Amino acid sequence: MSRGLKRCYNVARLRERAKRRLPAPMFHYIDGAAGDEWTMNRNTSAFDRWELVPRWLVDVSEIDLSTTVFGQPIDVPFICAPTAMGRLFDHVGEPAVARAANRAGTMYSLSSMSTVSIEEAAEATTGPKLFQVYVFKDRGLNREFVQRCKDSGYHALALTVDVPVAGNRERDIVTGMTIPPKLTLASLLDFAMHPRWVWNYFTSPPLELANVRDRIKGDVTTLVTFFNDQLDRTVNWDDAAEMVEEWGGPFAVKGVLSVEDAMRAAEIGASAVMVSNHGGRQLDTSPAPIEVLPEIVDAVGDRLEVILEGGVRRGVHVLKALALGAKVVSFGRPYLYALGAGGEAGVDQVLEYFRTDVERDMRLLGCRNVGEIDRSRVRKVDP
Ligand code: FNR
Ligand code: LAC
Repeated sequence: MSRGLKRCYNVARLRERAKRRLPAPMFHYIDGAAGDEWTMNRNTSAFDRWELVPRWLVDVSEIDLSTTVFGQPIDVPFICAPTAMGRLFDHVGEPAVARAANRAGTMYSLSSMSTVSIEEAAEATTGPKLFQVYVFKDRGLNREFVQRCKDSGYHALALTVDVPVAGNRERDIVTGMTIPPKLTLASLLDFAMHPRWVWNYFTSPPLELANVRDRIKGDVTTLVTFFNDQLDRTVNWDDAAEMVEEWGGPFAVKGVLSVEDAMRAAEIGASAVMVSNHGGRQLDTSPAPIEVLPEIVDAVGDRLEVILEGGVRRGVHVLKALALGAKVVSFGRPYLYALGAGGEAGVDQVLEYFRTDVERDMRLLGCRNVGEIDRSRVRKVDP
């Protein structure tokens, strides 16, 4: 591993390294969010409204981080969220993340908009894996997804419900982010400053949305036109219920922010909700997941696994979410920065960072296993 990568001992430093190593459209696609990015910033800052209350003189010589999610045992209480376009950030892309997740003993999630196929990603990991579904106008494609996931041994499905249209990603307009990226006069200088990325990108197989490649016509597009042309805005709870039935296994509704939607998810037979605002990339000013987590846990925690997703950057964030009733947390940008900063070794490093951070802080909190991290360990700070 390079010395530069080794010195990236937290997520903020991995982000800085990714910023140097990636062309601007790729970095800002990861780093940016919708509108004023209020929600994205709030996702992390809202953790500050909670304090962790340690208890001492507990034998913390042995710490057990393991838990289960979607019926699968995992070694750590955090999983990798599904994210699109992996090969934009590293020429290997999704398989690099899947292998690193497997080594860390955790779950990998593949996006519908991945740059390798359902089958290729499945081959990369023998560990637990989830597939994230966007509902395309071509409903045949959705049924095909479910069948392909069954055939390739995915353990869970997550239906993302917060993208009836693409969010207002202003950074992508400024940088000229397209899928696949195109070389323009304006971007030439930027690409010239990132020769390693350019070399890897242009010596690898062409970038494509591997799961939908045979169904999508046309060439270069933006995320906004892609979503608005291809995704089905008529999707409703009946469609979700049908998908739960068709899949017949562990199923999450991803993007829930209200008690009402969490209850609907329970009613249609989902096994989990991902409390998430898509990392602040969809409706700006929607609430931070950690803010709404307690009320959602109170409403459905006895029936559903509640997963907190968004803004997690440190071990203490993981501990606060678990204390407030999350089964596990899920994160996207931390491992994408790591992928941009150092490829597969970078992802290994960020997952190891979270493992050691959580383990150390459990010792400092006086908790020997994740079951001991309950609400008595957090205290709300007066506003
Ligand atoms: C995402 N996310 C996402 N979600 C989803 O359901 N399907 C997808 O294809 C994507 N793609 C995607 C790309 C990028 C670059 C990012 C940063 C995020 C959202 C993702 O699953 C998750 O909700 C957020 O990443 C959580 O916030 P943090 O951990 O990035 O703060
Ligand atoms: C995003 C989409 C792909 O957040 O979900 O960029």
